Amino acid sequence: MRAITVIPRQAGSARLDEVPEPAAAAGSVLVDGLALGICGTDAEIVRGEYSWAPPGEERLVLGHESLGRVLEAPDGSGLAAGDLVVGIVRRPDALPCGPCAAGEWDFCANGRYTERGIKERHGYGSERWRVEPAFALRLDDGLEDVGVLLEPTSIVAKAWEQIERIGARATFAPRRVLVTGAGPVGLLAALLAAERGYEVHVLDQVTDGPKPELVRDLGGTYHAGDAGAAGPFDIVVEATGALPVVAQALRATTRNGIVCLTGVSSPGRVDFDVGGFNRELVLGNGVVFGTVNANRRHYEAAAVALATADRAWLRRLITRRVPLADWQDALERRPGDVKVVVEL
Ligand code: BGC
Repeated sequence: MRAITVIPRQAGSARLDEVPEPAAAAGSVLVDGLALGICGTDAEIVRGEYSWAPPGEERLVLGHESLGRVLEAPDGSGLAAGDLVVGIVRRPDALPCGPCAAGEWDFCANGRYTERGIKERHGYGSERWRVEPAFALRLDDGLEDVGVLLEPTSIVAKAWEQIERIGARATFAPRRVLVTGAGPVGLLAALLAAERGYEVHVLDQVTDGPKPELVRDLGGTYHAGDAGAAGPFDIVVEATGALPVVAQALRATTRNGIVCLTGVSSPGRVDFDVGGFNRELVLGNGVVFGTVNANRRHYEAAAVALATADRAWLRRLITRRVPLADWQDALERRPGDVKVVVEL
């Protein structure tokens, strides 16, 4: 079967490969791959900046944003042939650490977790893949055209859960939310903010393409380049990882505000007034926290969020669908791209 594979941390090594059928050890559920979402992490992996192959192997099958249809599932697995499924990305470390033992592998404490398509486990970027029933999520059939958005939605479902848990430290009645970055994570974070009834502001650079309208159709306000005049905000969700934007996000909240960082930056420096920031944070009970990955609870919350959302709006997030043979086109950033999907 065909699969997109890469030699980890070797730029230019990605290719469309012929690989053996998925190994039985990868799980008892055999899935016919339908779609694979491409994200910034995949681009990083293809540039040779990140990822690890399974032990003893040279190449890694790429892909962690999955959608497929079950071909075979054992009795008692809760799945049956024909079911629409998404595979979870992370697996707990073998030890396991405390959070992993509790099913909260997104909080793995020793870093020895594995991730499909990223860290030591083949991904979902193949025509067929296998998954363990406990790491597969069944979706409503009606979500076939947008179900590939479940994984990025799980990331923001976790972010919102964490924001709410942090907010519970005191009386918390947030109203105004700023999301920085109108990529898939930013827009899905904005969707979940709108579903919660908040006043939503989204900051991005572009002035044209689908992003401004996608924000407006959520009932939100789109800011091109600067949202400073609209601030401060009760909650900021940072989804760019771009240092100047991160620096702005850190100082954009009200007293008791929460800044949630979701964007992975490369190391780097910007001119930033640490003293002023620290003073405001302390005197205003501020919280800044980072969040990564998602556990099963967050995938389940994400499935509810997608089922509740306007289907046409979700469909517009997928701005390009590329056949597997043209997978390289999916990794190229083009103007107007939000989520690009490879059809398996
Ligand atoms: C994925 C996460 C993963 C993270 C770090 C992200 O792109 O969505 O599931 O934990 O990369 O590897």
